[in-house]
Amino acid sequence: MSERGLADGPGDGALPPSLTVDAFDVRMADVADIDLERLQALSISVGWPHRAEDWQFAREVGHGVVALDEIDRVLASAMWFPHGDDFATIGMVMTSPRLQSLGVGEWLMKRVLSASAGRTYRLNATRAALALYRSLGFIGHRTVFQCQGEARGGDRPASAEPVRRLTAADLAAVTALDERAFGTSRAGLIARLFEQSAGYGLEREGRLAAFALCRPFGRGHVVGPVVAGLDEDAVAVVQPHVDEHDGRFLRLDTHLDEGIFPLFVARSGMKIHDTVLTMSLGAPLTDPATRGPDRPITFALATQALG
Ligand SMILES: CC(C)(COP(=O)(O)OP(=O)(O)OC[C@H]1O[C@@H](n2cnc3c(N)ncnc32)[C@H](O)[C@@H]1OP(=O)(O)O)[C@@H](O)C(=O)NCCC(=O)NCCS
Repeated sequence: MSERGLADGPGDGALPPSLTVDAFDVRMADVADIDLERLQALSISVGWPHRAEDWQFAREVGHGVVALDEIDRVLASAMWFPHGDDFATIGMVMTSPRLQSLGVGEWLMKRVLSASAGRTYRLNATRAALALYRSLGFIGHRTVFQCQGEARGGDRPASAEPVRRLTAADLAAVTALDERAFGTSRAGLIARLFEQSAGYGLEREGRLAAFALCRPFGRGHVVGPVVAGLDEDAVAVVQPHVDEHDGRFLRLDTHLDEGIFPLFVARSGMKIHDTVLTMSLGAPLTDPATRGPDRPITFALATQALG
């Protein structure tokens, strides 16, 4: 190695220490047309845990766009997940770190909003995305606590109501309970999640009063959605999932920060890892504080992108 250091090569004594790289054009493409490995490379670049299967699932239940450079590298993405004709969630919004703050995220978001026009929206915003979403008219509501870690099952007192494994025959009741909590029907999404999930439910007077689904996602498994009216019921239906994943990575995203549910989540090994903010555009949000036996709420999200 010469005294001038590693940058020197044969005959390159005149090389400048820095190089101005020309600006290049990006073009939009449909996320459905891109190899899963390239989409996964994008999410890895922003530190997200999505597997190729998670991207595939997102594409099956939603639509979206990517930004490609001149040699087809995937630089950014944004997706939307419709529920009926009036409502959608937005997610999988990311821009490769070296290209952030150049307007690509805003460009893709505007395309998503025009492609899904006529709807109200909900999304979960990272700190990095707050300025972008606020500039598009989104309003912040509640913090989501992303809890994760090595699950710790345990001998906790059994719930007063028996908890049982859900079967395909429970899908209609699960869909209806989810709709009461979420505020809009997610029949298509719940049916797809149900196929990939193990589920536990609890009944009162012959009606489903709480359920918790759990499926492979990211670094391990995610518990969600979880719907119940009472904290005790939510704990009771999540408990078997924790026990089944004892010693393994488990994640749960919740709006709740007080009461027995978040305490139970922490004791089960899932500590707060990060927070995001639930925002909406034209769509009111059910207030989790007003839960009760006849007012089911969402105790845990399906994922941040899906709500
Ligand atoms: C959030 C994100 C998608 C924005 O994409 P982008 O292509 O940089 O967005 P734009 O260039 O269109 O910028 C939009 C606004 O966000 C701001 N912004 C962009 N990156 C930011 C960052 N890392 N921190 C804070 N603000 C940021 C821009 O300054 C701009 O605000 P302005 O209009 O007031 O100047 C991008 O930062 C990202 O991928 N972050 C990591 C993954 C993530 O958090 N995704 C959001 C999930 S909800």
